[in-house]
Amino acid sequence: MKVSVSVLKEYDRLISAVKKVNESNADFLHVDVMDGEFVNNKKFPLEVVRDVKQISTKPLDVHLMVKSHELIKEYAKLEPQYLTFHIEVIDDYSLIDYVKSLGIKVGLAINPETDIKHLMPYVDDIDLVLFMSVTPGEGGQEFKEEVVDKIKEFKKVAPSDLIISIDGGVNDKTVSLCKYAGCDMLVAGSYVTNSENYEEKIKELR
Ligand code: DX5
Ligand code: ZN
Repeated sequence: MKVSVSVLKEYDRLISAVKKVNESNADFLHVDVMDGEFVNNKKFPLEVVRDVKQISTKPLDVHLMVKSHELIKEYAKLEPQYLTFHIEVIDDYSLIDYVKSLGIKVGLAINPETDIKHLMPYVDDIDLVLFMSVTPGEGGQEFKEEVVDKIKEFKKVAPSDLIISIDGGVNDKTVSLCKYAGCDMLVAGSYVTNSENYEEKIKELR
């Protein structure tokens, strides 16, 4: 099980949090970009992500909760390992093609209330699907259990090599549901970053 650590809740102590992730056994650093439009919060402007990339020794897993396609292209230029944007903001292949042309792995995120049928046209062209198990916008929310059946349904029809990641409310209690659903990757924020010992918490989740 891969673990990607979200430092969203540590925004005011970002450098120290990124360093703690560096020193841990995390696989990725998850960066939650919010535009104040697709979601109410506004976090991680371009220059902050650029700085984070400089400090991080972990590959970046950038989650764009933004509407603007131009903005998505700007973040793509930072060349993270994974760039994930929302199915709710696209209606064709153009952004996926653009990001792939830069050699970046593409993820599509899907909100709890969005039907998986919207993902189907793209499943052969992307690397990862990020199932939101909370309404996007902030860390520390409660895991929505309905996502488990949704993932199970999706896995019946999705290519077997498509990475299934889950984001929101992942902790020692909900991780068994994520495993039961068949996730390959977990995004964990507050459960890890509320602790002084990131490594220990990540081990508990794997
Ligand atoms: C929510 C973000 C998540 C969030 C996860 O909008 O996409 O990545 O930071 O935080 P926790 O694990 O605290 O729910
Ligand atoms: Zn996220």
